Amino acid sequence: MPADFYELQVAGIIQETHDTRSFVFAVPESLREEFRYRAGQFLTFEVPWNGMKLRRCYSLSSAPETDAWPKVTVKRVDDGRISNWFNDNLHVGDTILVQPPEGRFLIRSNEGDHGIFLFGGGSGVTPVLSILKSALRTTERRVKLIYANRDERSIIFKDEIDLWLAEFPNRLEVVHHLDSASGFMSVEEIRAQIREWEDAEFFVCGPTGYMDAVEEAFKASKIDPGQTKFERFISPIDPDRKDESAEVVPEQSDDEIPASFKMVLEGRSLEVPYEKGLTLLDSAIKAGHKPPSSCEDGYCGCCMALLKSGQVKMATHDALEPSDIERGWVLACQSRPASREPIEIDFDAEY
Ligand code: FES
Repeated sequence: MPADFYELQVAGIIQETHDTRSFVFAVPESLREEFRYRAGQFLTFEVPWNGMKLRRCYSLSSAPETDAWPKVTVKRVDDGRISNWFNDNLHVGDTILVQPPEGRFLIRSNEGDHGIFLFGGGSGVTPVLSILKSALRTTERRVKLIYANRDERSIIFKDEIDLWLAEFPNRLEVVHHLDSASGFMSVEEIRAQIREWEDAEFFVCGPTGYMDAVEEAFKASKIDPGQTKFERFISPIDPDRKDESAEVVPEQSDDEIPASFKMVLEGRSLEVPYEKGLTLLDSAIKAGHKPPSSCEDGYCGCCMALLKSGQVKMATHDALEPSDIERGWVLACQSRPASREPIEIDFDAEY
C-alpha cells in the first residue's frame, strides 16, 4: 500500500501569473511529523473527478527553512484535468487529500562548498526555487539559476527571486532566458553557462526539450552523471485511460524466479520471500515491510532503490534518467526478477 492520504486545508492562494497559482496548506500539529519535508520534494494529491479518484504530484515551491507552510505551484496545462481543477475549484478553506512529501531531488549534505547549479524551465522552476531558498539560507554555497520561459509574463516568482538576489548578491546569480526573444536555449549556450561550474551539483526541471538540451550539454562538457539530478513532469495514468497505455508486464519464465531476495531498508538487511508475478515492492509489502512508495505506477520515482546484485526487468522506468539506470537504480514498483541470480536492492543508498 502506498503511504496514507491526509486531509489538509488550503490556508492561502497566490495568483503568481495569468495561468499559475500557488496553494499553501495548513498542517495541523498532529501531522507535523508526517509532513516534515526537504527542499526539492513533492506532494501527491488525490482529487475527485467524474466518479474517479485522480492523483497528481506537484513539487513544493516552499522550503522548510523559509516558509511557514508547505506550498505547491500549479500552472494550467491545456486539457490538464487536475491543473485546471486546482486553478478553478480549489478555494481557501477547502480541504484536499494529500500524501506526505516524497522525492529524491535533494541537495547532498556532503558536497562541501561545491556550487549548486539550477536549471528551471517554466513551472519546472518550482522544485529548484525550493532548493535555491534552502541552500542560500542553510549553506555557504554559491547558487546559479538559469530560468527559461516562453515570455516575460510567464515568469513565475520574478519578485521573489529578485528579493533573494538583493539579499545574496555575492552568492546568487540568476540568468533569465526568454524563448520569445532568443529562441530555445541551445546546447552551446548551456555549455557556456556551466563553464567554471563543472564541479557543481546540478538540478534540472522543466519541459522535455529543455531538459534534453541540458542533458546533452552535460555530456558534451563531460559532467559526471553522479553530479546531476533531473526531475521530470510525468503524470500518472488516470483510471479511465489505463487501457490506452496498457502496462507491459515482462514475461517471467520459471527459471527466473528466485525464492527470495535481499533488501536493505532503514539500516536493516532483510530477506524477502518472492512469488512469481509480483514486483519487488509488492513482495516487500506482502512480507509486512514499508519501503517508500507512492504512485506504484512508475512515474513518481519514490520507490527508487539501488540494485546491488542480480538482474531485474522493469515494466516502465519513466521516472528514471538513462544515467540513473546506468548507475544501477531501479523502480521497485516496476521490477521483477529476471534471473535466479541472488538479488539485492538497497533503499537506503545515497542517490
Ligand atoms: S512508487 Fe512511484 S515509481 Fe514506484
